[in-house]
Amino acid sequence: MSTTRFLTGITTSGTPHLGNYVGSIRPSVRASQRADVESFYFLADYHALIKVGEPARVQRSTLEIAASWLAAGLDPERVTFYRQSDIPEIPELTWFLTCVTGKGLLNRAHAYKAAVDKNTAAGVDIDSDVTAGLFMYPVLMGADILMFNAHKVPVGRDQVQHLEMARDMASSFNHRYGAHFTLPEVVIEESVATLPGTDGRKMSKSYDNTIPLFSSRAELKKLIAGIVTDSRLPGEAKEVEGSALFQIFQAFAGEDETVALRKAYADGIAWGDAKALVFERLDAEITPMRERYEALIADPAKIEAILLRGAAKARAIATPFMAGVRHAVGLRNLGSADTGKKAKADAKAALPSFKQYREKDGRFAFKLVDPKGRLLLQSQGFASPKDAGAAIARLQQVGATALPAFEGQVAAADGVSPDEIAAALQQLADAA
Ligand code: TRP
Repeated sequence: MSTTRFLTGITTSGTPHLGNYVGSIRPSVRASQRADVESFYFLADYHALIKVGEPARVQRSTLEIAASWLAAGLDPERVTFYRQSDIPEIPELTWFLTCVTGKGLLNRAHAYKAAVDKNTAAGVDIDSDVTAGLFMYPVLMGADILMFNAHKVPVGRDQVQHLEMARDMASSFNHRYGAHFTLPEVVIEESVATLPGTDGRKMSKSYDNTIPLFSSRAELKKLIAGIVTDSRLPGEAKEVEGSALFQIFQAFAGEDETVALRKAYADGIAWGDAKALVFERLDAEITPMRERYEALIADPAKIEAILLRGAAKARAIATPFMAGVRHAVGLRNLGSADTGKKAKADAKAALPSFKQYREKDGRFAFKLVDPKGRLLLQSQGFASPKDAGAAIARLQQVGATALPAFEGQVAAADGVSPDEIAAALQQLADAA
């Protein structure tokens, strides 16, 4: 069975809240239990340094987030669960990616642009109070992802652009140095990607409207009681549309329960009763996790040991992988200089290639195969080797855009996407 590699990071800058749980922790833990999935989860503590200048908070948040994921059922034996700063290969890869990333690409990052817009509006220097860390944030994130050749990256909607940038970095690097990195795809948990907070806006620390995942029972009750509602009285029908309370319930409850609450709304349930019901439902899911969480938080040395084991697992992949990447960019042992002929032969062996051959019926065909011999393109028989050669030359010169002109004569192999063919032809063109 081929496995899909999932990877996601969580910045250690706060205390996990219900929005983090529903949008990230819970779907990730579930995905990690699937047999066809290999998961990498990490605490993005280097990223935390970009926003948090209080060392104690970084440390506390790292502990709380690690304990939350473990309490939510993440099995560190099954997945690779680690702390970003335990992997020195990540900052090293960040530098390599920095060197193939256009500054203009980073200028367009939403977070940086928002800071610039704010400064512009305030009439101060556009980069006032902007650190190079904020500017470089997407590259560090790219390194997190590309290091482990993740296929799928589950994140919130606000991170989609970062994934696009990671793909750009992978392409630029692959283009220059050969195919080292997988192009990652973003995964968004559509139904529950954003949970409203107590004021009805997206639950987020920056709005101060969060409900911490591991609040005590009493605190949870109080916070749920504080969720904004309208002023409809008991007996008056309530709207589910736009009701933060309803949406929070829905993120925890099953279909039937949701239908039941919808009906209770229509029947005019009192807000106080609705809140009591929502509280009990959430607490039922949280209680067993809360017990595990408290036990874990009380034993930080155990969490530390789990993370160090995770780092060893991650580095068993990262260290040899980075040896290849270092070599690819030319950071090499001078004693085993691999310049000249051998380097050229290696470069050629790493390229896709056209193979021409004669079919049984005597016609002349060709195929395009990747460096591992996988079939990408297949032609029909041409009348002469010259015709076949002309078609190859055209594909090499023009690239994938020439393909429609060969409709019926040259076709992609089963399961090969147009993007892959375009990339292979591009690689050949670059090497020519
Ligand atoms: N930037 C992500 C966030 O704020 C956290 C993160 C860092 C991340 N590195 C990552 C997420 C790599 C996915 C993959 O949510």
